[in-house]
Amino acid sequence: MSNVWPLSATRDSDGALSIGGVDVRDAAAEFGTPLFLLDEADIRARAGAYRRAAESVGARKVYYAAKAFLSTAVARWVHEEGLGLDVASGGELAVALRAGVPGADLLLHGNNKSMSEIESAMEAGVARIVVDSFEEIVRVADAAARAGIVQPVLVRLTIGVEAHTHEFIATAHEDQKFGFSVSSGAAEEAIRRIVKLPPLEFRGLHSHIGSQIFDTDGFEEAATRIVAFVARLRDDQVIEVAELDLGGGMGIAYLPSDDPLAIGDLASHVSGVVARECAQRKLPVPALAFEPGRAIVGPAGVTIYEVGTIKPVVIDGGVRTYVSVDGGMSDNIRTALYDARYTVELASRTSDADLMLVRVVGKHCESGDIVIREAHLPSDLAPGDLLAVAATGAYCRSMASNYNYLPKPAVVGVIDGSSSVVLRRETIEDMLMLDPGA
Ligand code: LLP
Repeated sequence: MSNVWPLSATRDSDGALSIGGVDVRDAAAEFGTPLFLLDEADIRARAGAYRRAAESVGARKVYYAAKAFLSTAVARWVHEEGLGLDVASGGELAVALRAGVPGADLLLHGNNKSMSEIESAMEAGVARIVVDSFEEIVRVADAAARAGIVQPVLVRLTIGVEAHTHEFIATAHEDQKFGFSVSSGAAEEAIRRIVKLPPLEFRGLHSHIGSQIFDTDGFEEAATRIVAFVARLRDDQVIEVAELDLGGGMGIAYLPSDDPLAIGDLASHVSGVVARECAQRKLPVPALAFEPGRAIVGPAGVTIYEVGTIKPVVIDGGVRTYVSVDGGMSDNIRTALYDARYTVELASRTSDADLMLVRVVGKHCESGDIVIREAHLPSDLAPGDLLAVAATGAYCRSMASNYNYLPKPAVVGVIDGSSSVVLRRETIEDMLMLDPGA
C-alpha cells in the first residue's frame, strides 16, 4: 500500500489533518477554500532525491517539468535543490526567470513556439531548445543568427513506443503532434538540416513517452530504440550524439493501491540499458537528462474543499450520496478529462460513523463536474466539514480555469508549522478587470 499523502501529513490530537505542521482548519479559515496546500519539505525532498539519483548514474541534468505546477516559490525550491527547469511557453519562462533561475538551467519545449518565445528564451540564454518541427529549425536558426549566438538544440523524437497510460497523456506513439518520427526518416532529416545551420549546435535527442507511467519497460524500450537510432546516425556519418533527454512521465500514487517506481529506479534501470546498448554498438554513452514534473510536486499537494450540500440519490441497488464541494472541474479537470482516480478523507475531524458510498462533485453547471467518482466517507458528514483530496500538487492548479467565473484557489506552502502564500486566491475583481466593461 502506498502513502498518498504528503510526507508531513498527520492527524492532530483532536483528529484534524495537519500538513507541514499546519492544521487544515486554520489554513482554510485564513486562506479560504478551495485551497491547495503544498508541503515544501516534501517537494524539496523529491527534487533532491531525483538530483542525487541522476548524479549517481552520471546523468547531466534533471529539469523539473514546470507545467505540472509553477510559481516563483516552487521554481526556487527545486532550483535550490539542484534541478533545472523545463519550460514550455513564454509564460513559464517568465516565471522561472522571475524566480531567479538562470537561463543556463533552463530548457525550452513546445510543439509550436512563437518567434517571441524563441527570442525571449535566447535572450535569457536557455541551455537547450528542444526543436519539434522543420519550421521551427528554421525559426530557431534565424533567431540565433539575428541574436549573434549559437543555440544548442535537442531534437524531439517520436519512437513508436506506447506507454501504458491514458491516450491523451501518452506522447510517443506515431499518430500525435509531438516530435520527429524516427521510422519515417523525418528525425534523421531534421538532424541533417540542423548540422548544416551554423547558428545551431546539435547536442542530442529528446524523447518523452507519456505520463503517469508505473514501470520501466516503456522507458527501456524507448532507450533501446533511441540508441539504435544513434548507431544509425553514426554509421551514416550524420553526427555523434552527445546527449539523451528521456523526458518525464514517472507515475505517482493517487490511490493506496497504486504502486509507483521508487525515485532512482528509473535512472538506474534506464542508464543501465543505455550503457549496455551503447557497449554492444561500440558507441560512447550519451549524457542523460530527465524531466520529472508530477513526481516532484504531485504527492506534495492536497486540495482542501468545504462540503456544501449532501444529496442522497437512489441508484440501482442502493443509494449514492452526492457530496458537493466549493470547487470542482475548474480546480481539478483531471477526473473529467482522464477519468483520474483520487483519495479523499474527512479532514476537519475524525468520525466513528459507518462509511457511505459517495460521489464528490463540484459546483459547476455540468453533470460531468466530478472530483471523485467513488469514495467512502463517514455517514455523519455535514455541510461545513472539510475534505482533503490527496496528490493534487500536479496538473490541478496548473490546468485550472475560470469556468462559471470561479476564481482560482490560492496555493499555500506549508513547512514547520508556518504557511506562506505561493499563489494568492483570485478574486472576482481580478476577473472583472479583464472585461473593459460597458
Ligand atoms: N517532459 C515533457 C516533454 C513533457 O511533455 C512532460 C509532460 C513532462 C516532461 C513531464 O511529465 P510528468 O513527469 O509530469 O509526467 N495533464 C496531464 C499530464 C500531461 C503531461 C504533459 N507533458 C495529467 O494531468 O495527467
